[in-house]
Amino acid sequence: MSIKFSVPIFDIKNLNFIIKGQTILSNISLEIFTSEYIAIIGPNGGGKTTLVRMLLELEKPSGGEVKIYGKKLSNFKEWHKIGYVPQRASHVDSSFPATVLDIVKMGRISQGGFFNSFKDEDKRAVHDAMLKMDILDLQNKMIGTLSGGQRQRVMIARALASKPQILILDEPNTGVDVASQKNFYALLKKLNKEEKITIVFITHDIGVIADDITRLFTINQKAIICNNPKQTLSCQEMSELYGIDAHLLHNHRHEH
Ligand SMILES: Nc1ncnc2c1ncn2[C@@H]1O[C@H](COP(=O)(O)OP(=O)(O)OP(=O)(O)O)[C@@H](O)[C@H]1O
Ligand SMILES: [Mg+2]
Repeated sequence: MSIKFSVPIFDIKNLNFIIKGQTILSNISLEIFTSEYIAIIGPNGGGKTTLVRMLLELEKPSGGEVKIYGKKLSNFKEWHKIGYVPQRASHVDSSFPATVLDIVKMGRISQGGFFNSFKDEDKRAVHDAMLKMDILDLQNKMIGTLSGGQRQRVMIARALASKPQILILDEPNTGVDVASQKNFYALLKKLNKEEKITIVFITHDIGVIADDITRLFTINQKAIICNNPKQTLSCQEMSELYGIDAHLLHNHRHEH
């Protein structure tokens, strides 16, 4: 069930992305509303990352339009409302010269909280984000010396430090152990339910979160929107129609 308000956070109309003569995304129209928890699935190369990058003005569409809070992207200035953890964000060089604390502080830069003018409010937001992600004890370590899973938690803490209203996560948990993943999913659910943060989560792990999400988008050049992710059969039929491995959806549900 999705909660619908009159102005969606993202309003995407007829979006196309064509590069070097190849159509990557074709005629994508969808809306994302406040308090939703959306999972995006689809095969490798299906265009998930490209779609999200267009939402954030990091990639220019070949056609169509994205509105954010009712505004054209080019007129939108409040980027601190959007927390984004890109795919492979945690792949940093082992000698990268920054501590965990430095990295999380970067999440405050868009709000004017530069390193030398850090206000109490900035400090609190950084502390809260590290507490949520359970990395307070790592704060003085060099980022490059951490494990992959720990680094991912740092990248999410950086996104949370800006106190976002919407959190966009592009496969943030690849390679994270099962116990940490469980905690991570519980955290996302809590952020969505208790703090009302809208979540857009690109994942290949749909079964585990199927009960938490409000809607499921399948992206493979086109978008298939599933308004009731618990009714996997109709989603499966639609997914098959577009050549997407629906077993990903189906099998996990039965294991769950
Ligand atoms: N700037 C670009 N130049 C050339 N090709 C691009 C560009 N951006 C995206 N593509 C192509 O678009 C396709 C979709 O890529 P994208 O990264 O969006 O897929 P994805 O669904 O995120 O895949 P994965 O699950 O592997 O992360 C790929 O074939 C990719 O090579
Ligand atoms: Mg991707």
